Parts: sequence; structure tokens; C-alpha cells
Amino acid sequence: MNQVIIQGTDLKRFYSVGGGIFSKGATVKALNGLSFTLEAGKTLAVVGESGCGKSTLARLVTMIEEPTEGDLKINGQNADPHVRDLRATVQIVFQNPYGSLNPRQKIGAILEEPLKINTSDSAATRREKALEMMRKVGLRPEHYDRYPHMFSGGQRQRIAIARALMLNPRVLVLDEPVSALDLSIQAQVLNLLMDLQKEMGLAYLFISHGLSVVRHIADDVMVMYLGKPVEIGPVEDVYAHPRHPYTAALLSATPIADPTRKKNRIELKGELPSPLNPPPGCPFNPRCAYATDICRQSFPDETAVGEHRFHCYHPL
Ligand SMILES: Nc1ncnc2c1ncn2[C@@H]1O[C@H](COP(=O)(O)OP(=O)(O)O)[C@@H](O)[C@H]1O
Ligand SMILES: [Mg+2]
Repeated sequence: MNQVIIQGTDLKRFYSVGGGIFSKGATVKALNGLSFTLEAGKTLAVVGESGCGKSTLARLVTMIEEPTEGDLKINGQNADPHVRDLRATVQIVFQNPYGSLNPRQKIGAILEEPLKINTSDSAATRREKALEMMRKVGLRPEHYDRYPHMFSGGQRQRIAIARALMLNPRVLVLDEPVSALDLSIQAQVLNLLMDLQKEMGLAYLFISHGLSVVRHIADDVMVMYLGKPVEIGPVEDVYAHPRHPYTAALLSATPIADPTRKKNRIELKGELPSPLNPPPGCPFNPRCAYATDICRQSFPDETAVGEHRFHCYHPL
């Protein structure tokens, strides 16, 4: 086993919403008890429908926000945003390549900013490092003096990746990094990410709302539902033999040719419940064809079969 670079234990993040003069307000349990490890140089994919807490997890792991409860270790140390080394260790790439770059800064300045803030590099060294990173992500030297609006979505995502890499992080949190891009461009950016991972020994926490994108990039996959863990394990195991009906339903909706996969389709019926008022027990139970009384009463403990772990009373 590689060195563990991120370890999350029973992570929770709650938000208070809506409290006003006439109403009491409510609590959104955006993340409600998630545990995982990310090893150096590996990719853990985090998958689940919109609103299940993926970006909340991204904000915790990058220390933009603190967990309400639970424990987060980065490189063996307690997560603490005031420790510069830890901040540099984990960097993030957001989904929207249009919103995440300052439109008034040239690409060179965007890439050099992290160096300006965090290092004592000279202007000449910063420029050299920026140009070197541009080369690594497939941008040309003349792009150094251009503004973000002069680039396509795919190129902007290359710029965002380059910026995230300027401080030599060990982990990139990629929050749906290709969701906003055309299919053909998605493949290019995914290939770039895989090349960079090999070259720089990076670990990825790769967030995606579907299972198709992560199949080739991930070592392990974690499926979430309404802030709760569903299933986690090596990609081959989870795709070949999903144990949780929710994972099976997501896979059924995923167009991937795989002769080893069982053909029975499981349809995802009904609406995603509101995270403000999740169903008791296993939150997936109202949509689950296998649900029984116990599923409506308590959340199932984890079952482990080797590296493959899942929370379900009626695993497939
Ligand atoms: N700052 C916040 N205040 C209140 N609710 C929030 C906040 N951030 C996220 N949420 C809620 O938490 C849940 C999970 O959100 P998010 O992590 O963005 O999900 P995802 O990235 O999987 O779509 C959603 O119901 C969302 O509305
Ligand atoms: Mg999100």
C-alpha cells in the first residue's frame, strides 16, 4: 500500500439555512459521516447525483471549510488551513473554467500569483516556472500574455490545472473538472490529467456526477447519496459487481460496453429527496426496489468484502 496522503474519518458538514423572524430554520446535512483514504499517486473518484455533498467534501479536503464533526488528516497531520505546507499540499480545480479565472489577469500573472504569495522566487524564476508549467499542460509560450477570455473552455481548464500545480501539490481535488466541456475535449483533459499524475506523482480526488467519466482514470471509487456513503472499493470490483442497488442503478444509466457486467437493468425511479428532509434509515430506501422495514428504520453499518465496502441490508 502506498503512503496515505488524505484520511477522512466520519466527516460531517452541516449548514443552517432559512432561519428568520418567523421561522426556526433548518439544518442541511450536506455531508453526514464519510470515511475514506486517498493514497499518494492514486485516484479516488467520488460519484453521486447533484446535491449529494461532493463539492462540500471538496471544500473540506482543501480546507476552505472545516468539518462540523469528524477527523481529517493530510499527510499524517491534522488538517489546519493556517499551516502553509498543508495548504500547498492540496489544491483544487473547479468545475466552471469560466468563473474560476480572474478575467483581468493575463495567464502569466494567474500562474505566478501562487508563487508570489507563497514563495520568495524572483520575477525571473516565477516567469520561468510559469512557462514550464504551461508547456506541461499543453499551452504555448505566446499564451503567457493573453487573457482568459481569449481561450476555449478546454484551454481554460488547462490553465486552472496549471495554476493548481504551481506550488507542487501532492493532491489535486478535481470538482467535476470536465463536466462543462464538450465530449471530445473531455477526453483530452482527462488524458492530460493522467499524464500529469504519472509525471508528478499526484493523487487525485476526482469528483463526478456520473460513473462513465471516472472509469479509466480512477483506482478506487466512492459512491455517495444525500451526504452518506453508499459503496467504496477498487474500480474493477465496483463496476463488475456493484453491491448497492444505488450503484447498480447509476451503472445501468451509464452507457459503457462491458461484457463482464450483468445485464439486468435497474432503473432509478422517483425523485432525489430534499437534503433538508432526508428519509429515515437508508436515505435511498424510497427509491429502492429491495427496501424492507429495516431500511426505513436505521442506516446500515458497513459491510466489507476485502477492499470493497458498502452500506446495505440487501446487497446485490
Ligand atoms: N453554504 C451552504 N449553505 C447551505 N446549504 C449548502 C451550502 N453548501 C451546500 N449546501 C447544500 O448541501 C447539499 C450538498 O451540496 P453540494 O456539496 O454542493 O453537492 P454536490 O456538489 O454533490 O452537487 C445541497 O443540498 C446544498 O444545497
Ligand atoms: Mg458540486
